[in-house]
Amino acid sequence: MTDRQPGFSTLAIHAGAQPDPTTGARATPIYQTTSYVFDSVDHAASLFGLQAFGNIYTRITNPTNAVLEERVAALEGGTAALAVASGHAAQVLVMHALLTPGDEFVASKKLYGGSINQFNHSFKSFGWNVVWADPDDLASFERAVTPKTKAIFIESIANPGGVITDIAAIAQIARRAGVPLIVDNTLATPYLCRPIEHGADVVVHSLTKFLGGHGNSIGGIIVDGGSFNWSRERRYPMLCEPRPEYNGIVLHETFGNFAFAIACRVLGLRDLGPALSPFNAFLILTGIETLPLRMQRHCDNALAVAEWLSNHPRVAWVSYPGLPGDRYHNLAQKYVPKGAGAVFTFGLKGGYDEGVKLVSNVKLFSHLANIGDTRSLIIHPASTTHRQLSDAQKVQAGAGPDVVRLSIGIEDKADIIADLEQALAE
Ligand SMILES: Cc1ncc(COP(=O)(O)O)c(C=O)c1O
Repeated sequence: MTDRQPGFSTLAIHAGAQPDPTTGARATPIYQTTSYVFDSVDHAASLFGLQAFGNIYTRITNPTNAVLEERVAALEGGTAALAVASGHAAQVLVMHALLTPGDEFVASKKLYGGSINQFNHSFKSFGWNVVWADPDDLASFERAVTPKTKAIFIESIANPGGVITDIAAIAQIARRAGVPLIVDNTLATPYLCRPIEHGADVVVHSLTKFLGGHGNSIGGIIVDGGSFNWSRERRYPMLCEPRPEYNGIVLHETFGNFAFAIACRVLGLRDLGPALSPFNAFLILTGIETLPLRMQRHCDNALAVAEWLSNHPRVAWVSYPGLPGDRYHNLAQKYVPKGAGAVFTFGLKGGYDEGVKLVSNVKLFSHLANIGDTRSLIIHPASTTHRQLSDAQKVQAGAGPDVVRLSIGIEDKADIIADLEQALAE
């Protein structure tokens, strides 16, 4: 590349990658190895002591994964990244670096249901306590902060309801509280929104969705924004206290503005172990090469489908922030001006039975529990993901009996609409 600052599409193809120095291979090779031969005993000692960068063991670093990490860090405008086995693993490692037992974090209550479960139940067993706040009431974040709060967690576009969160306003609340803002940017991807530019300190992704983009690999990533002053706050022992297993080094003093990514790698990934397979990293990297093209097509198709549904006589409501009348439309214009993503919900007149009939009648859409595939996907949460909840809990979670969630793919939009038309007509 030249001295010019490369654009987003160029970074999506090239960031982090070079032709393979040994073979000349142009595509990033899959380094399918568990471990790496040391040059010498001194070389091994410096790697183990964090005095030199290099590979020891694929649980901690791998050259294929390193290209993925550099690429996503470049796309998000972060200083470094750490790829892990799933989006959920990314969330565990972030909180592991920040919280000790008895600590709290504030989270938006409009989040992917799996994250709500993870925070409410599994994180409690680590002694990490979630306090919920409402993204539609910014003051509720301020009220939720206590001296035990160590982080704030939100989604840029919340799954599944098409909620756009006011990242910059919540970043200011985090600044005042002296805690980092973590943004799950899975539904937007850096093509639509770069949360670090709006004040986020850490970005996490489920790579499983639009970044990988083809419904073939589970993965997650943590991006360090490099902006948070861990030493000034002095409330984060993993970053500001000497590490006995690394000759007493203090990670923030040694690694500066990428210390958070290092802490997640050399403490969290090393000890908790959710490493990403290099084969998955290869598939996800290949997916990322076409991210800008795919995301724009996903958004354009989603807007067309949302408009069509909102004029359909059997549809009661559509919740898509790309529609001019939507309550999040203004926030969408600020945070995701190129398009409001491809995941949204709508309500069917006639409720539960109509929802079950629709998912049974579609032919092009796949009825399954995922989002962010090239293929169009559909689910009726009340009869699947949320079926164990009471009716009142379903409504509270945005999964009432009438609700259908779509993840619009990149097929021809006329075919997507025709499939919904025939399924609704049945
Ligand atoms: C917004 C969001 N965050 C995180 C996750 C968890 O990711 P993974 O399934 O890769 O663990 C998901 C999964 O659906 C998601 O939609």
